[in-house]
Amino acid sequence: MRVCVVGTGHVGLVTCASLAAVGHEVVGVDSDEAKIEQLKSGDSPFFEPGLPELVEEGLRSQRLRFSTQIADGAPEAEIVFICVGTPPRESGEANLVAVENATREVMQHLSRAAVIVEKSTVPAGTSERIRRTLQRERPDLAPQVDVVSNPEFLREGKAVEDATNPDRILIGADGERAFVPMRELYKPWIDRGVPVFETNIATAELAKHACNAFLSTKISFVNALARLCERAGADVVAVADVMGADDRIGRQFLNAGLGYGGYCFPKDLLAFERLASRLGYEFGLLREVATINDDAVRAAVEKVKDALWNMEDKRIAVLGLAFKPDTDDIRLSPSLALARQLLDEGAHVVGYDPVAGLEAKGEIPDLEVVNTMWEACEGAHCVVIATDWQEFKDADLERLRSTMAYPVVVDGRNIYEPAEMNRLGFTYYPTGRPVVS
Ligand code: UGA
Repeated sequence: MRVCVVGTGHVGLVTCASLAAVGHEVVGVDSDEAKIEQLKSGDSPFFEPGLPELVEEGLRSQRLRFSTQIADGAPEAEIVFICVGTPPRESGEANLVAVENATREVMQHLSRAAVIVEKSTVPAGTSERIRRTLQRERPDLAPQVDVVSNPEFLREGKAVEDATNPDRILIGADGERAFVPMRELYKPWIDRGVPVFETNIATAELAKHACNAFLSTKISFVNALARLCERAGADVVAVADVMGADDRIGRQFLNAGLGYGGYCFPKDLLAFERLASRLGYEFGLLREVATINDDAVRAAVEKVKDALWNMEDKRIAVLGLAFKPDTDDIRLSPSLALARQLLDEGAHVVGYDPVAGLEAKGEIPDLEVVNTMWEACEGAHCVVIATDWQEFKDADLERLRSTMAYPVVVDGRNIYEPAEMNRLGFTYYPTGRPVVS
């Protein structure tokens, strides 16, 4: 099928490349000229394992093209994906200006019956807005154009894996006509047995928000438990193991730590809460989830202060700056919130990340960013594990002990074994587990 994807961020680019890989003709459009030039030369604008190879394969087969002009992709497209950004407004509500502008421009260029798919995470009710925009822009063509909600469930760092082997496909449409081309588009996956959920549009929009909100709630639940375990002398990892053994609960997303970050959970949770409020339902649980998440970073800073007393003239190494491993995305990263709070306390903060160092430096100029974890830890009075990169899990802990000025480790991701840290002579503050001293 002929597909146009507007917006080549994480979601848009992975969508482009995975659809081209199964044989569709895809044009990826983005107004950012530098990004399009980079993509045309086969270079990926962000770090995502497996994506450069998939893009290159698409370019080589000529099934994937990139352009700065919607006019290059929309006119002949049977399906147009809207994958533009929906950043938060001051109020927490999603800012949908880019969605409206993209829809308007797509409509100006469409020359045939088509389906417009909202893929960006948008509040329930957005499809109705899109439909009205279609009607205003092109009353001649609007009756032949359907609007579909097809939310994505991609995780950064595993986006290619999730796109090629999804655990579900969600298609929301109001009317049978719109489902037909969507089933054809996803036929290669459907034939392989990937479950498809066909719902009305409001249900699809809400289901996407519900998934992210529920996962955030799970993380905040275990982080609240961690605070309690620290006070009670209990071990949150063991508590999570016991909970997780119950199939109805499940062990995933019960890892206590610095909390969730990134460009999805924090902003989607707020947008969902705002949407509920606008619809007349106060979803206070979601507000509490966000508060517990902010507290997770503060709790780690308190541990550093507990260990070091005064922070002035103390060198603190923050290991991991991306919001999670295997990505260079630092947006709303708990690591950066932590680094900022430590700097505010007067500490000398040195950060290291396997891929996100430059981005972090751009965001926090006062943060010293170095190129190896050993440079960061040299002479440090405390090391904080902020992102659970494999490199830190595999680190030579004896070397770490001898590199540091004081052997203090605050583990915001619980990657080390307390007994081992004890044996090596560290003062070790895990999350939700007894301190080793
Ligand atoms: C998330 C969802 O997992 C995807 O299904 C969804 O498609 C995506 O948002 C989206 O809406 O676009 P992502 O933001 O890439 O994906 O990251 P996750 O792997 O879900 O992790 C989110 C945050 O939670 C990270 O900061 C991670 O460190 C943290 N986390 C995760 C915990 O603190 N504890 C856990 O047990 C699990």
